[in-house]
Amino acid sequence: MQVQAFFSLKDFNTFGIDVRAEHFVVVRSVVELREALAHPAHPKLILGGGSNVLLRGDVKGLVIHNQIGGITVGEEDAYTVSVAAGGGENWHGLVQWCIERGYGGIENLSLIPGTVGAAPIQNIGAYGVELRDVFERLEAIDLQTGATRSFLAEDCVFGYRDSIFKRALKGRYCISRVHLRLTKRAVVNTSYGAIREQLAAQQIMEPGIREVSEAVMAIRRAKLPDPADLGNAGSFFKNPELDPERFERLRDRCPEVPHYLLATGRVKVPAAWLIEQCGWKGKRFGQVGSHARQALVLVNYGGASGSDLYELSQSIAASVEARFGIALSAEVNLW
Ligand code: EPU
Repeated sequence: MQVQAFFSLKDFNTFGIDVRAEHFVVVRSVVELREALAHPAHPKLILGGGSNVLLRGDVKGLVIHNQIGGITVGEEDAYTVSVAAGGGENWHGLVQWCIERGYGGIENLSLIPGTVGAAPIQNIGAYGVELRDVFERLEAIDLQTGATRSFLAEDCVFGYRDSIFKRALKGRYCISRVHLRLTKRAVVNTSYGAIREQLAAQQIMEPGIREVSEAVMAIRRAKLPDPADLGNAGSFFKNPELDPERFERLRDRCPEVPHYLLATGRVKVPAAWLIEQCGWKGKRFGQVGSHARQALVLVNYGGASGSDLYELSQSIAASVEARFGIALSAEVNLW
């Protein structure tokens, strides 16, 4: 374990923002993590894949890059299997590992950038599936005491791109291992229109988990810029959820507004649509902009600062608020 001083985080965040950590260390095991926690620098911040964070300036204290690895199979029955993965494992690597073994449940979450440990924090979701649908439990290390604590699904208080780790327990834990309950006789979820269209275009009538994964990857590659080519962190804002009266007022003004009814009775409206209506889609301002194929994705064309991106996001949110009276909230974590 080697602590480095004034370490550039450029290669450790998918926006590619060049800021420095006062101290930086990679940990590959819980033992190393506890060693890092004994370092005097304060505060301690856990960084996973850096795919959902906007770094707005140099970072004080010790940045701990979680690379705790390992994927293992736990108890199984005729239909299901428990799979555990280290918090530092690459999420898509875990998805592929499961598909190769015929374990279903996370194929719709193919190609989401980031690590296994970050997945429950965000309750990652895509194409009709969320992490909480397959979540069993996790182990996390208390950053103050080094103690291990186990969290069941109900302890995590999962919501839309939300969990207790973004709220009451923000910055308190490092997620060291996540256990998922997957199926051995998978029933695939093709409820999302784009998946159905993709499979139909390929004339796949009875898709298995591999075909669904491939369809999801094709859709993502067509719409979302690859951070290796263009700095970004996926959706910058959450899709706002409106109460029915509020939604009806919006629909009176804009009958064409896309929307999804939620089980709660609220109505989800795509933030991408609101942003596009305000004229931001595909527009570039210096080194930052809104992506041409997905308005909700803000991009760094190279050399942008975190403040450049933050200011763009603020201007976008202000114009959506002014035009529609809807407050957008950031989906990415702001450091
Ligand atoms: N739309 C526009 N303009 C655009 C893009 C989309 O008007 O530029 C409208 C269209 O009506 C489209 C609708 O928005 O039908 C939804 O678009 P899309 O299917 O691309 O999904 P999204 O709501 O923008 C969400 C997640 C994504 C996830 C996709 C697929 C959030 C904040 N984002 O995006 O997650 O991949 O659904 O399930 O919920 C992420 O979290 O970083 C992320 C990429």
